[in-house]
Amino acid sequence: MINKTMQDAMNEQIAKEFYSSYLYLSMAAYFEDRNLSGFARWMRAQEAEERGHAMKFYDFILERGGKVTLKAIAAPKTEWKSSLEVAEEVAAHEAGITASINALYELALKEKDYPSQLMLQWFITEQVEEEKNAAEIVANLKLIEERGTAVLMLDHRLGKRIAE
Ligand code: FEO
Repeated sequence: MINKTMQDAMNEQIAKEFYSSYLYLSMAAYFEDRNLSGFARWMRAQEAEERGHAMKFYDFILERGGKVTLKAIAAPKTEWKSSLEVAEEVAAHEAGITASINALYELALKEKDYPSQLMLQWFITEQVEEEKNAAEIVANLKLIEERGTAVLMLDHRLGKRIAE
């Protein structure tokens, strides 16, 4: 059975993952508004993955005989200055999520909670990918400096993403 310390920390993480989902859905709406449907599709795929992350914690707590407690989710931002600003915010947000996953792992070590350690290893690997993807879009956008045609080409490429 999961102990209360680990359960409470994972319940906090569920809220963070749902907030990520909400934030990315808001970013998708921002891109739709700018007629960048590829960027919007990428954000929608990212949003779906975040809900998946939240549900992994949700199901794990239940499997271990714990209690899921959902928290309030704050309203996300709705406006950004540019596509680059959005991408930089995704990168910064993912770095924050990595820090909270790492803190959960440290807690699991301290609590000698071996099943949680194993489960969190999936998230540690996932965060490497999440940070890499965000950094790549930031780098691409910096390179093209928002020139119209290059932004449209990137929009086309991002539009091919399918949620895992
Ligand atoms: Fe759930 Fe993007 O980390």
